[in-house]
Amino acid sequence: MAARNPFRPTFGVSPTVLAGRDSLLQSFRLGLAEGPGSPFRALLISGSRGMGKTVLLNEFEDATASQGWITLRAYPDASMVDALINSAIPTALQQLDGPQSKRMLSSVSIPGIATVTAIADPYKKDPTPTLIYRLRELGSMLQKRGSGILITLDELQSAQVDQLHVLATAVQDLLRDDFDIALVAAGLPEGIDRLLQHEGTTFIRRAERILLSPVEHADSVHMFIDTTAEGGKQMSMEAAELAATISNGYPYSMQLTGSLAWAQSNLNNTELIAAREVEAVRTEVIRRMGMQVHEPSLHQVPDGELTILYAIAQLSQDGEMVSTGDIANLMNVKPNALSMQRKQLLRRGLIQVPKYGYLNFTLPYMREHLLSNAHHRPIT
Ligand SMILES: Nc1ncnc2c1ncn2[C@@H]1O[C@H](COP(=O)(O)OP(=O)(O)OP(=O)(O)O)[C@@H](O)[C@H]1O
Ligand SMILES: [Mg+2]
Repeated sequence: MAARNPFRPTFGVSPTVLAGRDSLLQSFRLGLAEGPGSPFRALLISGSRGMGKTVLLNEFEDATASQGWITLRAYPDASMVDALINSAIPTALQQLDGPQSKRMLSSVSIPGIATVTAIADPYKKDPTPTLIYRLRELGSMLQKRGSGILITLDELQSAQVDQLHVLATAVQDLLRDDFDIALVAAGLPEGIDRLLQHEGTTFIRRAERILLSPVEHADSVHMFIDTTAEGGKQMSMEAAELAATISNGYPYSMQLTGSLAWAQSNLNNTELIAAREVEAVRTEVIRRMGMQVHEPSLHQVPDGELTILYAIAQLSQDGEMVSTGDIANLMNVKPNALSMQRKQLLRRGLIQVPKYGYLNFTLPYMREHLLSNAHHRPIT
């Protein structure tokens, strides 16, 4: 039977081997050990689609769990706070209490009928307690065990300001009273910036910001070699170097490149993934990036902004940055005529400013996607 492909070209699934997030994890662990005064108790992770935000959140959850902490996951919808109060925290409290706890079971004897054992929820008090009340209850219980609470919130850009305000106020309240609690939120940069412009998000605004950057080349090379080995095959150094170059340190395309090269080695009936296998899938990596990452991110982009993207694609040689002056020239307009669209594209996270007066694409192979036939050009 063929060995199972160890690469995970998907979203939100932890990789077989995590590449290059060691120093972030180390800072986080230090923050836990440091105590409630550490700036790492309120963290904001931002990064483009597929940069590894959810995976890093999972790693943080694992890191706290190994120290006996409890994780509460908050979900960014209108009932975020409600779900914490009425579901996540009661469940955590019950787990701490243990299933054998006397508080949980109450036997009721009804004459003439059998004995009914009802599960009473000792935490369900009326009126509905506040989030602060609930968190303090859980925090006090954990404090006795020398552990704490981690609250994670993924897709922060979709959160509602009023809900976020209640959550942040509660966390801040507990931190002020020296409870061991940490809040880690993750989301897309543009969405986060928009959200943080609102009043009532001050605490989150002051959180420590982590902008997830691409994985370093050397870390990426190791990831390819180690992941392949975990799956029971081998990858040559030359192949790993090539795979790291093709995927540009972008975690999603790293998994994609690895997965396709693995599949190619199955087709070639070999246990050794050599440069030949990696080179053979390069085009498919680019095509899939276009289909799964770029095309969805271009859906909402109006023509005026798309035109700028095409100009960058045309002017850019091999993904090099392009000057705004050259873009304006090509489009036959004055540079300042582009400033609104430029700002929108930056907000969407599709382009970045590598140097003053220059622009380039944020993610690898956007240029190839735009220049291919897969995307239809607007008529200008
Ligand atoms: N440090 C890493 N090393 C290796 N692979 C990684 C790493 N981080 C993420 N990945 C891989 O990349 C994929 C995308 O990661 P993840 O889902 O965390 O991205 P994301 O930033 O949350 O994306 P989105 O913006 O769509 O939510 C994951 O399925 C995982 O397999
Ligand atoms: Mg995610």
